Amino acid sequence: MRNLLVAQSGGPTAAINATVAGVVSCAVLSGKVDHIYGAVNGIEGVLAEKFLDLGKKLDSAEKISLLMQTPAAALGSCRYKLGDPKENTEDFEEILRIFRRHEIRYFIYIGGNDSMDTVNKLSKYCKENGVEDVFVVGAPKTIDNDLVGTDHCPGFGSAAKYLAATFAELERDCHVYEKKAVTIVEVMGRNAGYIALWCGIASGAEDILIPERFDGNRPKLENELIESILEKKALGKKHHLIINAEGVGHSYGMAKRIEQATGVETRASILGHMQRGGNPTAKDRVYASYMGALAVDLLCSGATNRVVGYRNGQY
Ligand code: F6P
Repeated sequence: MRNLLVAQSGGPTAAINATVAGVVSCAVLSGKVDHIYGAVNGIEGVLAEKFLDLGKKLDSAEKISLLMQTPAAALGSCRYKLGDPKENTEDFEEILRIFRRHEIRYFIYIGGNDSMDTVNKLSKYCKENGVEDVFVVGAPKTIDNDLVGTDHCPGFGSAAKYLAATFAELERDCHVYEKKAVTIVEVMGRNAGYIALWCGIASGAEDILIPERFDGNRPKLENELIESILEKKALGKKHHLIINAEGVGHSYGMAKRIEQATGVETRASILGHMQRGGNPTAKDRVYASYMGALAVDLLCSGATNRVVGYRNGQY
């Protein structure tokens, strides 16, 4: 049998389900896949043998279309990382035993850097142990957009759009009083500043702090911010918006010290997981579903230990 298993991993995004929709559509139309299963909660679900029959669950174009537009991970996700097979092969042997039992030939793992590490480890383990009928491919996903090998990670654009719209509304709210104010908003992105940069530029923030440009000297950074605030204040600017990537962080302490130094009311807020919500943008749905479909094509062509990517306008 040529069964396919797909699983979702890491922090969810608005577009991770669109990737699954692309996988299922392409697998059904390919004529090269018998059954399509989804593992519940990523690689933990594979090890627990918790599978859904996606061929039955998604048995109409309408259900596939609904999945395309639904944020968060419909199959559930996990943060579990496979260890080094040189130290312990238990997980790898169990996964292959389960693959045999369900006659799984193709495995697609949708996630960020840690998930692609799982793709690499599992496919290498198969190769080094003479397993030639299991093919493993990764499909990129993360709002951080920090995945090596692709210029665009599905999920990033939707998060940036959601935040840019939120900041435009926040900006209006902050202009209602005559008194000047400073607002610091901390956004996700782990150690990357893509989200902060894109939504900051899109919403006209006065200052955008990203880890790629932070040398660790916090007093220097805060002095530069204070100068920027006092300069804009002198020009009569009533509100000052600072987007702070979580990789720089310390927003609450920064707000306190800035208020003390400038005498301007400074408020900080750290946005939570809503940043990964909202409807996926059209571009994210297209990228995600197409990458899911390409992952199926790669597997059916016999490729393994590969990640679908988008670079310089080419997949
Ligand atoms: O990696 C995506 C991400 O949203 C990061 O931007 C964020 O720091 C992290 O996940 C949050 O992880 P969790 O969902 O486990 O709280």
